[in-house]
Amino acid sequence: MTTSQQTVRKAVIPAAGLGTRFLPATKAMPKEMLPVVDKPAIQYVVEEAVNVGLNDILMITGRNKRALEDHFDRVPSLEDTLEAKGDMAKLESIQAASNLGDIHYVRQGDPNGLGHAVLRARQHVGNEPFAVLLGDDLIDARDDLLSTMIEVQAKTGGSVVALIEVEPSQISAYGCADVQAIDGEGYVRINKLVEKPDVDEAPSNLAVIGRYVLHPEVFDVLERTGPGRGGEIQLTDALQELAAGEGEGYGVYGVVFRGRRYDTGDKLSYLKACVQLAIDSEDLGPGLREWLPGFAAGLAK
Ligand code: G1P
Repeated sequence: MTTSQQTVRKAVIPAAGLGTRFLPATKAMPKEMLPVVDKPAIQYVVEEAVNVGLNDILMITGRNKRALEDHFDRVPSLEDTLEAKGDMAKLESIQAASNLGDIHYVRQGDPNGLGHAVLRARQHVGNEPFAVLLGDDLIDARDDLLSTMIEVQAKTGGSVVALIEVEPSQISAYGCADVQAIDGEGYVRINKLVEKPDVDEAPSNLAVIGRYVLHPEVFDVLERTGPGRGGEIQLTDALQELAAGEGEGYGVYGVVFRGRRYDTGDKLSYLKACVQLAIDSEDLGPGLREWLPGFAAGLAK
């Protein structure tokens, strides 16, 4: 079986970022552990991977990230206490996090960009296609994205990025893609990728969001990718090389996502994500819906 025909089995989750946007909340706690409604943000991402059958998960972590390992581990004494109290709902809620796939950890050491983080996965991933999920983007569990991307990777044998349309003024916060439609297909070919272009230099308003399904050829490219935007090794730059070249493992494709995405990468987006997800939750939704219109009306006065 050639690499491109292999099914994707592994997910890589970079989680070594310092979380400076959330200081002081993240002074002694990883930003990935910030709760979104009632679960740490990172748990949504792990669940998304496991839901599409990616049970082998590698987290790229760093110093001050031990809480991540603890969260996905069992706590027998707490389980015993909840069981003795007969609080089965809470017992199940804490067991859910420790029953999610097989989670491995490797440290990035010196956080030197997303490309550098992904390269740390090389030994664990080996020579097979793999998914990368960034924790700042949450994709609603009711909407499909990753499984479509996995299908496109299998079909094309290249690498696949997820795209959304953004307001032109926002494109400088993202990797930006110049794309070309493919007749009869629901995905696009990527002609060019630019990391965080200025608005007047952006080739489109299509932004790369934090889901990738990559051919392992990306590792060879990352090995020779020098510092890019911000002096960091950028995954976007390696993907640009894959998009521009030809041969086994080359070619980059895009799936345009029109479903529900929640950005937890900065304080305001994070607050909005919490409200959006809580509104739909069974236990908190009704109370929040009752309170919110009156509160908002008060603000409008
Ligand atoms: C990273 C990527 C960028 C992408 C973004 C998606 O940037 O470098 O290309 O658009 O994730 O969330 P970051 O947000 O980590 O600065």
